[in-house]
Amino acid sequence: MEKLSTKELIEKSEQYIFSTYTRFPIVLTRGEGTKVWDSDGKEYLDFVSGIAVLNLGHRHPRITEAIHQQSKLLAHVSNLFYSEPQIRLAELLVTNSFADKVFFCNSGAEANEAAIKLSRKFFKDKGEPRRYEIITMENSFHGRTMATLSATGQEKFHHGFEPLFNGFSYVPFDNPQAVEDAITDATCAVMVEPIQGEGGVNCPSPDYLKKLRSICDTHRLLLIFDEVQVGMGRTGKLFAHQHYGVAPDIMTLAKALAGGMPIGAMLATDECASSFSPGTHASTFGGNPLSCAAGVATVETLIEGTILENCQHMGEYFYSQLLSLSEKRPCIKKVKGKGLILGIELTCEGAPVVKECAKRGILINCTLGNIVRFLPPLIITKKEIESLIKTLDEVLEHITTACS
Ligand SMILES: Cc1ncc(COP(=O)(O)O)c(C=O)c1O
Repeated sequence: MEKLSTKELIEKSEQYIFSTYTRFPIVLTRGEGTKVWDSDGKEYLDFVSGIAVLNLGHRHPRITEAIHQQSKLLAHVSNLFYSEPQIRLAELLVTNSFADKVFFCNSGAEANEAAIKLSRKFFKDKGEPRRYEIITMENSFHGRTMATLSATGQEKFHHGFEPLFNGFSYVPFDNPQAVEDAITDATCAVMVEPIQGEGGVNCPSPDYLKKLRSICDTHRLLLIFDEVQVGMGRTGKLFAHQHYGVAPDIMTLAKALAGGMPIGAMLATDECASSFSPGTHASTFGGNPLSCAAGVATVETLIEGTILENCQHMGEYFYSQLLSLSEKRPCIKKVKGKGLILGIELTCEGAPVVKECAKRGILINCTLGNIVRFLPPLIITKKEIESLIKTLDEVLEHITTACS
């Protein structure tokens, strides 16, 4: 194959690929642990992790080996048949969570779509077909399919795609009373991210999720936790809701579940899961053996090793370093997050900060315009955090005038 320059690759991308993404002019070609390299050989420290996908870092040896071994056996099995990696991953997820059953799909949106369908079907089966509405949160993000877009409580994502699907109402995050006030005879479920990711790295009050559980129990509603971004160790526990001493009826996972291989999963209690009988829901690639083999390696590595502890310790260290930086740089209004999903709210736009950090060899990301988000692999070290803080300090000093 003829070798293309970075410029040629970007030109071809613009010619042949839909322009749905605003991309940096960087073509990534290789990764190892916390680092990635571009097509010109430049090295970057990766504090994006494919947006919370590469929790174990790039090319983790156990994941690479699992994919390699499985690729020598079977790349795909129709769900007309059983397949061992799928069964092993389901067992691992069930034995390490509140859930009794798992449905596999291919992405976060698809997992949430399944959760929405399951909630509606659950009440149909109970003889209450008028209960189909789901309460979700302002600033939430649940995906880009029509139903998950309709569930997403951010208008900017809705524009141009109206009419949205009906059956969703949005209330402020971290406000249990607002949920209680929004319940009608048609409500079937409450859907919430335990920590909002795309919506600006928002952590709730410590008793928020417990209050939602109690409201759902009182009104006989299902509680759905979307852990697509904050699950799989990102906050220092396998699932973020485990910090809050509460369990949902349904939980969705994707992103980091299979170490970079595409996957989605909906976990549920037996009572809910029984509403999906044969023929009610399906996915051709759901539970694909390559992805599931990578998923088994991911979950085993997370629960057997010290990565979750590293995430907790490095998360606390990183948070404290960001707090110190905020005292020095007044353009940082607030430090937010838990474990290794952290953010700083700036008094100015975050995009120039992200761009300048990339130039200096550090990849970070920005959400909601002025929230700079940090999602490093959970194997990040103190030295690497210090390197990010030093660069961020220099960059913020550089653009202070724009910030003030
Ligand atoms: C909380 C949450 N739910 C759902 C999604 C959608 O996941 P996917 O892009 O895999 O469809 C995302 C993606 O960012 C997310 O952060």
